[in-house]
Amino acid sequence: MILQEDMLILSNENISPRVYRMALKGELVLDITGPDQFLHLRVPSPDKVLRRPISISEYDKENKCCVIIYRVEGDGLATVSQMTPGQRLDVMGPLGNGFDISLPFPQKKALIIGGGIGTPPLVGLAEALTSQSISVTVLLGFAQKSAVILEREFSAVSDKLEIVTDDGSYGRQGNVGLLMDELDVMSYDAVYACGATGMLRAVASRTATHPNAYISMEARMACGMGACYACVVHVAADETGQKSLKVCDEGPVFKVGEVVI
Ligand code: FES
Repeated sequence: MILQEDMLILSNENISPRVYRMALKGELVLDITGPDQFLHLRVPSPDKVLRRPISISEYDKENKCCVIIYRVEGDGLATVSQMTPGQRLDVMGPLGNGFDISLPFPQKKALIIGGGIGTPPLVGLAEALTSQSISVTVLLGFAQKSAVILEREFSAVSDKLEIVTDDGSYGRQGNVGLLMDELDVMSYDAVYACGATGMLRAVASRTATHPNAYISMEARMACGMGACYACVVHVAADETGQKSLKVCDEGPVFKVGEVVI
């Protein structure tokens, strides 16, 4: 069920340049079904009518708390970044399908690949898989050292963690495709990825024949609930180019090969 609620802000901390970690408390946490669903935030400013979609990074139903991590890209989220504990934020959600972890895992192995601000929802995913005794390998890519986030959190919920940066200022220099090429991707029961379009293409090109490879797509959104078609992506198998899927409603997670990246 999609709810709208004025959630209580528990914390709102700057964790790296332009990136903030906000903890929220509210009843709608009880309706979260899995990692990479998202919340649609209303910026508390009369001239900002469009909500901002932000992925859920972690959640705790017992305490009705969840964490979102967002990067300030414009005035809207800059305003949200100035909000303080004790204030309330108008939130709609949970929205989207989230990652499917109800697959068979005969090898008990999953591969998670994240890039930049796409990494936060993967923490919750890694945690959920680890709690099912699935061995998790995490490959993360960032632009540079100052952009690296969540290393400690991923370390706690993975068996192997590797980080690359574009400029080599932290971890190895390169991109996650380089790290994938050093692994037998097909030996993992499932592959999950979230990040920028270029990174998703690199993942998709290396998992085209994998039966359980998933990507989480980003899109500009308006309504966030399937009504306005602002967020469509094209269906890969459709030669007419006419068929589309809505990222907010039918995604943001799709199987590799299902939609055009
Ligand atoms: Fe309106 Fe997706 S944002 S249909």
